[in-house]
Amino acid sequence: MSGTLKNHHANRQMEAWLNSLSGQITEALATGRQFAKRHPFAAIRKVLFYGMGGSAIGGDVLRAVMADRSGVLFSVYRQGRWSRWADEDTLVIFSSYSGNTWEMIDVFHKAARSRVRLLVVTSGGRLAEIAQAANVPCLKIPSGMPPRCALGYLTFSLLPVMEKVGGFKIPAGELKELLAVLQKAPKALAKRLAVKLKDRSIHLYTVSGFMEPAAARWRAEIAENAKMLASHHLLPEMFHNEIEGWQYPRWAVKRSAAVFLTDKEDAPVLRRKIRAAMQLIHKAGALAVEVPSKGKSRLARLFSLISVGDWTSYELALRNGADPVAIPAISAIKRVS
Ligand code: F6R
Repeated sequence: MSGTLKNHHANRQMEAWLNSLSGQITEALATGRQFAKRHPFAAIRKVLFYGMGGSAIGGDVLRAVMADRSGVLFSVYRQGRWSRWADEDTLVIFSSYSGNTWEMIDVFHKAARSRVRLLVVTSGGRLAEIAQAANVPCLKIPSGMPPRCALGYLTFSLLPVMEKVGGFKIPAGELKELLAVLQKAPKALAKRLAVKLKDRSIHLYTVSGFMEPAAARWRAEIAENAKMLASHHLLPEMFHNEIEGWQYPRWAVKRSAAVFLTDKEDAPVLRRKIRAAMQLIHKAGALAVEVPSKGKSRLARLFSLISVGDWTSYELALRNGADPVAIPAISAIKRVS
């Protein structure tokens, strides 16, 4: 296949996967509810979520939900080291879409020798095999897509388990609103943003708390889909250090963009500080843009930002002439043992 034709095919595939998010959520909730009935995981006080890359973002989302609705501690570990604090009150979740990520397999063996409770979410691979051999509950999700495109499956198949563990229930109305927000792809906004952000290095900022996962997701999607560097940092912390960095090298600042992912619950004082920071960044010769969340419930608003980021990264890939599906550098590093 010629380069252009190959990209055309990859573009169509990526669009289909991006459009599948709400369908994934509906399907995943049904799978998760059945699974949660069979595996109630009683008396859990801590959750330790292991995952890398696209399989870790679901952990960030669930951590935000748990912090919002329950007293259960929830940590996300993006690494292959075993944690000493996990004990018999801890549910350790291994999330790996392929099931072949070495960090997960390594830690799984250590976790299986400890007193923790275990749960695996994967589409198959080695992790599914070793979970089965060790009699560990395994939430199987459909295979055949890039892990980062399976965000709906990876997050929402676990939500019913988290509801049981945390003793809460997300109201049906909120889930309905979430699906409604995702029904309409934010293509026009994504195109406008991509036009502004093309040829710039991108720095994402969001207020610490529920919307945090959106900034991490934007950074990862921009790198993996558009093959562009992006960073993310949190507010108000950024006002205490990184804001000074918007000065040198001048040529780099002029070719950079600050994207503030904002939410209606951002405190008024933070909104004023965001405006001041945008002015400083603009004065330094960079681009400063704001992308506000949309929707009523926090979950819908978080996913409205995630969805704009996913589509913007795709639009940037188109403008860069990059294949939004292929991840040759990630694969090359994976082959290094
Ligand atoms: C690829 C992607 C990567 C992977 C990561 C871990 O689409 O998003 O960030 O998620 O390399 O692999 P898995 O998810 O298979 O454990």
